[in-house]
Amino acid sequence: MADESTSSGEGISGAGSVGRVLVAGASGLIGRAALEVFAASPDWEVTGLSRRAPGLAGISHLSVDLLDREACRRALGAPRAQPAFSHLVYCALQERPGLVGGWRDRELMETNRRMLENLLDALETGKAPGGAGRSAGSGASGVLEHVSLLQGAKAYGAHLHPIRVPGREREARDDHESFYWLQEDLLRSRAARAGFHFTIWRPPVVFGHALGSPMNPLAAVAAFASLMKAEGQPLRWPGGRTAPQDGVDARLLARALLWATRSPAARDETFNVSNGDVFLWENLWPAVARAMDMELGEPEPCRLAAFLPDRVERWASLVEAERLQAPDLLEWVDESGLYADLLLNTGRDEPPPPSLLSTVKLRQAGFQDCIDTEDMLVEWLERLQSERFIPGPHAPGRPATPDPDGAGGRRGAREALGQRSATRDERPGGRAGESR
Ligand SMILES: NC(=O)c1ccc[n+]([C@@H]2O[C@H](COP(=O)([O-])OP(=O)(O)OC[C@H]3O[C@@H](n4cnc5c(N)ncnc54)[C@H](OP(=O)(O)O)[C@@H]3O)[C@@H](O)[C@H]2O)c1
Repeated sequence: MADESTSSGEGISGAGSVGRVLVAGASGLIGRAALEVFAASPDWEVTGLSRRAPGLAGISHLSVDLLDREACRRALGAPRAQPAFSHLVYCALQERPGLVGGWRDRELMETNRRMLENLLDALETGKAPGGAGRSAGSGASGVLEHVSLLQGAKAYGAHLHPIRVPGREREARDDHESFYWLQEDLLRSRAARAGFHFTIWRPPVVFGHALGSPMNPLAAVAAFASLMKAEGQPLRWPGGRTAPQDGVDARLLARALLWATRSPAARDETFNVSNGDVFLWENLWPAVARAMDMELGEPEPCRLAAFLPDRVERWASLVEAERLQAPDLLEWVDESGLYADLLLNTGRDEPPPPSLLSTVKLRQAGFQDCIDTEDMLVEWLERLQSERFIPGPHAPGRPATPDPDGAGGRRGAREALGQRSATRDERPGGRAGESR
């Protein structure tokens, strides 16, 4: 991670300046990737904010409940107590158990709006003394310069109706209620008032690594394949007939977030962002089987939303036997089995309507990054294997590096990830509170 003593050269948006980015949603799928990418880039001081720590070494973290207005002010609102942030990446999100119902739930929409509002309010009161209005580009001015806000394909109504393909940013706002619109309206009015720039992002399904993220298809697929393999089964296609889809690597999305901090073409714009190709889920399956060193079996419909919770004990045995650095199964996958069933169109013979997004606007604005989705999926599976989150391809019995103290996987997992072991139900606003 860069700090003022080691950084050199051109600043973020002005000579010699250091950008101070706050990533809200730090323990999440996109937030963790953003922390990693910003921290690996020179001239950034990086701070994450979420209730749980993201478990990334060397990155400052503020444990704050965004629903607690006073806690936000205490953590961010005292001038001089914290260095003021020049950039905000906002990818915090609360979902509700069952996922889909929450996408139409007004109360949850308001919850998500309020989280952003509490944070913007706290950042406003926490700016450095004398800082007001848009700065000349120095991150040291104590003024917020730029905010990135996450939306997704649901902005086009993909969860409600067939979308006009491809989804384009220039289309009129889809006429449905969404926390995306509540947050966007709030952000636009604050940006006009305080004089910062913003960029709004619309990724399709995101592939990355996090604990307890309810929309994490990589976790669902990796856990499903690992359990099938442990049961001596081939890898069977569990889904139905799918339509061509697009997706995005969380790392690529994070690089786009970084690009936007430096690019005038990103100011006050909305962008779709994806890997750059399209895929059919069932066509990815042979690559998953190869990466997992499994035979490809005959298709057999299987709901991961039931399969994974049914195998919590079996997963614990696998972690023990393989000495994995992985937590309890549901602590990792949360409701991603349910999300995967939606993506894999499980139990349906008819493919869903396609919901592909155009990324031409982003490319024309100057962000050219792309990755083959099959290569990406294999890379992520190999990373999970090398980090001992899932068993390696050829080692059904022993880990590559023996655990010297014989403590086994779960304690190590939490230490490695730096995350406390509370289940989702135990978190503030968790399942018990009917929202997350
Ligand atoms: N995942 C996808 O496939 C996908 C696709 C398209 C768009 N998106 C959009 O991208 C954004 C981020 O999604 P994601 O999948 O990265 O989410 P995620 O993995 O569920 O992460 C959500 C983050 O928000 C934090 N958070 C939740 N409630 C909080 C609270 N009260 N106070 C502080 N932090 C809180 C969580 O941390 P703690 O629980 O530790 O507090 C976590 O770090 C969302 O707007 C989503 O709609 C996601």
